[in-house]
Amino acid sequence: MPVLQPMVEGGHEQVVHCHDPSTGLRAIIAIHSTRLGPALGGTRCLPYPDEEAALVDVLRLARAMTYKAAVAGLDFGGGKAVIIGDPATVKTEALLRAYGRFVDTLGGRYLTAEDVGTSQADMDLMRRETTRATGASRWLGGSGDPSAATAAGVLAAMRSVGRHVAGTTALAGVRVAIAGVGKVGAGLARRLVDEGASVTVADTDGARAEALSAELGVQVVDPTAVHRVPCDVFSPCALGGALSRATIPELACRAVVGAANNQLADPDAARLLAERGITYAPDFVVNAGGIINIAEELAPGGYDPDRALARVAVVGDTTSAVLRSAVAQGLTTVEAAEQLAERRIGAVGATRHLRTFDPIDRR
Ligand code: NAI
Repeated sequence: MPVLQPMVEGGHEQVVHCHDPSTGLRAIIAIHSTRLGPALGGTRCLPYPDEEAALVDVLRLARAMTYKAAVAGLDFGGGKAVIIGDPATVKTEALLRAYGRFVDTLGGRYLTAEDVGTSQADMDLMRRETTRATGASRWLGGSGDPSAATAAGVLAAMRSVGRHVAGTTALAGVRVAIAGVGKVGAGLARRLVDEGASVTVADTDGARAEALSAELGVQVVDPTAVHRVPCDVFSPCALGGALSRATIPELACRAVVGAANNQLADPDAARLLAERGITYAPDFVVNAGGIINIAEELAPGGYDPDRALARVAVVGDTTSAVLRSAVAQGLTTVEAAEQLAERRIGAVGATRHLRTFDPIDRR
């Protein structure tokens, strides 16, 4: 399976394959860009059908992280990692610590965090091997699970989209269908119910959706039908690929605003959404709350939850800026967001030719 060619096509800097025979660890770390700073992005643990599927996923996710950090105004590049295997069985202490040691070998070029299939407890174990594992428990100097910050960012983006399409940031009475009520989706549902929104949820883990329904009184639908629910906002909060040539014609919403990474399954999906008059808030703009929270952990003085939450509000501002820019230039919202990111990477990245030299640094 060729690795360099997809890297060339995607503009990736580095891909590291990790194998530890003693624990059975098989992982891939992809660094897309370090132009703005260390590549930051979570480690996903999934039972990929084969190595190629894992590589495709990690390359796409790493690239999206570059754009996410750039649009959010952070001094980080983009990276991502995947551990291949079922999280319920492969994630032993030894395997996670072996993986942490691989992250450490990259010398700070890649900073990891939690993602689908990994948790704060996993970061705690990695942290015992490397300081480059973020989102560990507070007592270890980490900022903890970023999901609440991500959900807060999605909510801020929904308000901005509301102002754009309906002239109001109020969420009372707004109908939202959430696909995937894991760490982010469930937190989002709770916040929306608090705001008086009318929420429908779906999850492939039916028990999870039912438990949330019992807690919040929200309606549950089948995960294969949730995108067809008539609503104001469809919110993909599961895995990627929710918006495809097959699902977009079936959407019955005015806007799509969700946390899931890589929501667009097909290259022309953003255009198809625009043609249907559906406002799409790009995933990498909307779901930046988690990475903003992590950036606060690495700020001088350490993590302050109040400051982090205040900073997450920027997601609402960037969403508004992207929606305005798309209208003004006749671009899709994805094109407008990528343009914003590329301009910042280009402008700030260009200053990096101004270098400082340590006396022993002869690179
Ligand atoms: P999670 O693993 O806690 O939750 C995902 C949920 O989606 C699970 O309950 C799972 O059963 C469900 N699910 C899987 N496939 C589904 C399908 N086809 N239909 C309906 N439900 C399905 O993950 P988490 O942390 O909530 O993340 C959700 C998404 O948001 C992921 O795409 C993740 O990459 C993205 N994200 C998460 C961040 C965070 O802070 N946790 C930050 C930025 C992005």
